[in-house]
Amino acid sequence: MKDPVQIFNNEQKTDRRGFLKLLLGFSGLVTAVGVLTPVIGYLWPPKQASTVGAGRVPVGSTEEFPVGQGKVVPVDGKPVIIVNTDQGGLTAYSAVCTHLGCVVEWDDRRQFILCPCHDGRFNAINGAVISGPPPTPLPELPLVVEQDTVYVSPA
Ligand code: FES
Repeated sequence: MKDPVQIFNNEQKTDRRGFLKLLLGFSGLVTAVGVLTPVIGYLWPPKQASTVGAGRVPVGSTEEFPVGQGKVVPVDGKPVIIVNTDQGGLTAYSAVCTHLGCVVEWDDRRQFILCPCHDGRFNAINGAVISGPPPTPLPELPLVVEQDTVYVSPA
C-alpha cells in the first residue's frame, strides 16, 4: 500500500511543475509578442491619417484662418505658418526661420511674421525679409482651399 503523504507530495510536485510550465509558456508568448510587434510595425507602417491625396495635408477650415491673422500649424511634423491678409489671401510659409531655425510666429499687432529669437521680421504677403538677420525669405508652400478646408503641401 502506498503512503498517502507521498502520494499527496507527488501530486503537489506535478501541480507545481504544470504551473511552472504554464508560466514559462506565458512568458515565452509575451516575449514573442513584444519582439514581433515592432517588427510588424516596421514592415507594415500605419497609413498617415492626416495626409490626403498627393501629399496635401489638411490644416483646418477656412474659418480658422480669418483675415488679418496668422497661425502656426504642424504639417508632416514641421511647423508651417498660415497667414491670411487682405492683399495676399491665404498663404503658407515654412515657419522655420531662415537665420538659425527658430519657429516664427504671427505678430498680430504689427501684422507681420516675427522670429522671436533675433527679431527677424518677414512680410506676410510674400515672406520677404523686412528686417533683422534672416538672409532669405521664408519659403512659400503650396496651399489650396477645397470645400472650406485648407490644404498645404509640405516642402
Ligand atoms: S533665428 Fe530667426 S532671426 Fe535668428
